[in-house]
Amino acid sequence: SSADKLEYVKSKIGKYMDFPKKGIVFRDIFGALTDGKACVYLRDLLVEHIRTTHPDVELIVGLDSRGFLFNMLLATELGVGCAPVRKKGKLAGDVVSVEYKLEYGSDTFELQRTAIKPGQKVIIVDDLLATGGSLSAASELVRKLGGVLLESLVVIELVDLEGRKKLDSNVHSLIQY
Ligand code: PRP
Ligand code: ADE
Repeated sequence: SSADKLEYVKSKIGKYMDFPKKGIVFRDIFGALTDGKACVYLRDLLVEHIRTTHPDVELIVGLDSRGFLFNMLLATELGVGCAPVRKKGKLAGDVVSVEYKLEYGSDTFELQRTAIKPGQKVIIVDDLLATGGSLSAASELVRKLGGVLLESLVVIELVDLEGRKKLDSNVHSLIQY
């Protein structure tokens, strides 16, 4: 069942104290991805969620860099396109940019102007929601290009950091700590 799959994936997620800085409890998605069964289950859970809640999605946007593990995977499963939000200076051509803060630093995110057609229905995907800085910046980029944000979807949500409060879109997480 889905509950069994979720329990299995959760059991494989790593936990590291004081990484990358003192005081941070790092939740490591790669602990799950090195396990073949966890990869398949994680794919199943994400695809099933989108198929049941947003079958009308037209584009999956993944966040640099752990979101890239999921955006093309989900796009191919759903038969839609995908696009990357990248840290500054990596994307060619005209881009929209926004600065943001995250749990342990700050950066600039960019999205190519050609990535989204106005009115296109978008889901943003990432491995983890912490303070919400990354997802809120990515939402801003999607909206700047006229995308309709259906939902932000993450594998892991760090509930105590209240990242959800920073976001004005729907957020769905599979696993909460
Ligand atoms: C991590 C994580 C999320 C973001 C969450 O990415 O993959 O994208 O932080 O934090 P927030 O909710 O506080 O914004 P990071 O910037 O460390 O980059 P990486 O994916 O390249 O490791
Ligand atoms: N990104 C931001 N905060 C994080 C955390 N605590 N664990 C893993 N990735 C993160």
